[in-house]
Amino acid sequence: MSTAPRDGLPASAFPVRMTVPEIQKRKSSRDSSACPQAKIVCLTAYDYPTARALDEAGIDILLVGDSMGMAVLGYDSTLPVTVEDILFCSRAVVRGTSRALVVADMPFGSYQINAEDAIREAVRLIKEAGVAAVKVEGGERRLDLIARLVDAEIPVMGHVGLTPQSVHAMGGYSVQGRTEDAAERVLRDARAVEAAGAFSVVLESVPRELAARITAELRIPTIGIGAGPDCDGQILVFHDFAGWTYGHTAKFVRAFAHLREELAQAAAEYRDAVRTGTFPGDAESYHAAAELREKLAPGHPTRPLGTRR
Ligand code: KIV
Repeated sequence: MSTAPRDGLPASAFPVRMTVPEIQKRKSSRDSSACPQAKIVCLTAYDYPTARALDEAGIDILLVGDSMGMAVLGYDSTLPVTVEDILFCSRAVVRGTSRALVVADMPFGSYQINAEDAIREAVRLIKEAGVAAVKVEGGERRLDLIARLVDAEIPVMGHVGLTPQSVHAMGGYSVQGRTEDAAERVLRDARAVEAAGAFSVVLESVPRELAARITAELRIPTIGIGAGPDCDGQILVFHDFAGWTYGHTAKFVRAFAHLREELAQAAAEYRDAVRTGTFPGDAESYHAAAELREKLAPGHPTRPLGTRR
């Protein structure tokens, strides 16, 4: 089966979109340092221009994360985010990508009630937004759900360790798996996600040593966030990566740009340019043709513009 040509150009004119099997093949060998270029590079994205810039830079997976709750919607947790929010942003992210695999988060409440509702919402994300996979939080307790989604041909990315949708149950956003029992729990969760058929799993805020052990044991790729460098891939929330956050920043975050300061600086320059009359300049203005220009000049003797004969 061939895919429809875009703008009459052959498919070879466009980069090939990353697929779920392609991501699975990137599972690093036991000696991951032997092939660092196989590392899976992921970021979150919530809009068209960001998705486009990240896609053009070669980011492998763009996650339309429910982190949008804090990063772009101004909530203090991910809990208020709705399926409609994820759908709205996923459509824009899919439109902005031609290479990256786009994964949509299933927000709180969309999969906790029953499997039928969860499958219906996941199908909407695939059909209405065009994402290739969904992500659900939780390990052992999501085994059946993940298996049902996979059975419905919906690729699933798991998410264990710190799961922000469990903020009330966990009593905050603390590092998980620090004691032997807790580490064992995270390990069991990761195994359950794999056994259920997920194609990859996010490990969030766990000790590096635990993430390394899980990565060595699992056959599916691990994507770390606050889980050290030994995972098969890494993900950051876009606004953390771009240095555009307000409030507390976690230890694992590295800002690769400083957009908050740059935007504040640019806005101040714009404010001053408007107030001092240096923006817009003549080169940024449209001009009337010579004849009209003359008539528009102050003090020109002809009839005022707009008066009828
Ligand atoms: O919502 C999100 O951005 C996430 C990542 C932190 C993995 O779940």
